[in-house]
Amino acid sequence: MAKVVFLLSILAVVLSVYFLLPSSPPPLPKLDYEAWWGPENLKTKQDTSIEPFKIKFDNALVKELRDRLKLRPTFPPPLQDVGFEYGFNSKTLETWIQYWAKDYNFAEREAFFNQYPHFKTNIQGLDIHFVRVTPQVPKGVQLVPVLLLHGWPGSVREFYEAIPLLTAVSNDRDFALELIIPSLPGYGYSSPAVRPGLGPTEMAIVFQKLMNRLGFKKYYVQGGDWGSVVGSHLTTLFPEEVQGFHANMAFLLTLKPTLYTWLGAFFPSFVVEEKYADRIYPLSEYYSKFLEEFGYFHLQATKPDTIGVALLDSPSGLLAYIVEKFSAWTNLVHRRKVDGGIEIKFTKDQLLDNLMLYYAPKSITTSMRLYSETFNKKIFSKNLDEIPTPVPTWIVQGKHELCYLPPWLLKYKYPNLVNATHLDDGGHFLAFELPKEFSQDLLDAITAFRKLHKNTKKTEL
Ligand SMILES: *[C@@H]1O[C@H](CO)[C@@H](O)[C@H](O)[C@H]1NC(C)=O
Repeated sequence: MAKVVFLLSILAVVLSVYFLLPSSPPPLPKLDYEAWWGPENLKTKQDTSIEPFKIKFDNALVKELRDRLKLRPTFPPPLQDVGFEYGFNSKTLETWIQYWAKDYNFAEREAFFNQYPHFKTNIQGLDIHFVRVTPQVPKGVQLVPVLLLHGWPGSVREFYEAIPLLTAVSNDRDFALELIIPSLPGYGYSSPAVRPGLGPTEMAIVFQKLMNRLGFKKYYVQGGDWGSVVGSHLTTLFPEEVQGFHANMAFLLTLKPTLYTWLGAFFPSFVVEEKYADRIYPLSEYYSKFLEEFGYFHLQATKPDTIGVALLDSPSGLLAYIVEKFSAWTNLVHRRKVDGGIEIKFTKDQLLDNLMLYYAPKSITTSMRLYSETFNKKIFSKNLDEIPTPVPTWIVQGKHELCYLPPWLLKYKYPNLVNATHLDDGGHFLAFELPKEFSQDLLDAITAFRKLHKNTKKTEL
């Protein structure tokens, strides 16, 4: 009896909150589309050229890194029978440090990075670094531009295994993808803002300008992690330009879907198909996972510059902090393994490549500031997630992704949800972890978007 009363009162609360919510979405907030994020004195001499760029790990940088790794203290041994539950296992860390110092072939990895053309161009005062891959296509095959957006602690490196699959010419398709893969501002070789306020909404504006500068007035967008947030804002701010949006993380700060998710704690089948119920329920486990894993998040959303000092000052610290995420976020059960299960899906070279894009440009502090520029009152007040976008959208969710939203709740934000696919494998870094499955899903999505546009004759893309 008590349980029924309890359930009914929860229901009453949820329903009353629901009906108190405004029924129409808020208007687009006022934004400064020309904000200047660079030094003031450069404003009058802006150079809008697009310059070739090459990644370089020069001898001085490599020597300094090796010296600093050598000077590391002895780390306390891990507790008995402990894997990664307390953080990066120090015994395993030693093998990674050894590899980075002795076996990682800097010259070879540099060449690996530079196998695709890199560029830099200044937008709103920021030097934006990007990789651009344009495949050669025979007559009758159309080039379709796609902006690929990474997140934290990822980089353009996450997409390297997928690049040849995405740009391949195939008899099954009348198109091939042209890829534009930028580093987010403050990440990798893209310069950071010099003043506060550059959050994901503002980054969306920067990337719209990047695509326009490259001559693309219409294009597709793909993103994971922060890339999915920035990409989602692109669809909201520029629905005429973005022809379709593909994301491998569905994270929305929206009230109604969140209320429904809570309601589902009592009636899961009301919210989610039974076969996917374990992706959110029991809700207590879903939220305790966030408590266990999101300490970094709170830190970066409040004091990024302080933790940044430690990470910039210690390459072994940076390694532990970043590579640890590739253990738990690929599959939480990996936390119980002494080696973190990291090499089940990745090689050391792959993850050290990604790490080098934080180490070499010294971008760790500025990368973490994105959390602070998102989770504050000013940004919440212009929450774009509550504004639906007409852009056709396709969401793919890996089995072990940290968050999950069922398709019908995604439709609050993306009423033109073309498809929501579920993988039986794969975690947070989908393009990096499962390049084949990721690429196939993205190509399927673009095929579906193009079919849709052909039927409505809305675009030639
Ligand atoms: C949605 O995805 C599923 C699974 O990949 C596929 O079978 C189906 O054809 C897709 N739907 C559309 C409209 O492309």
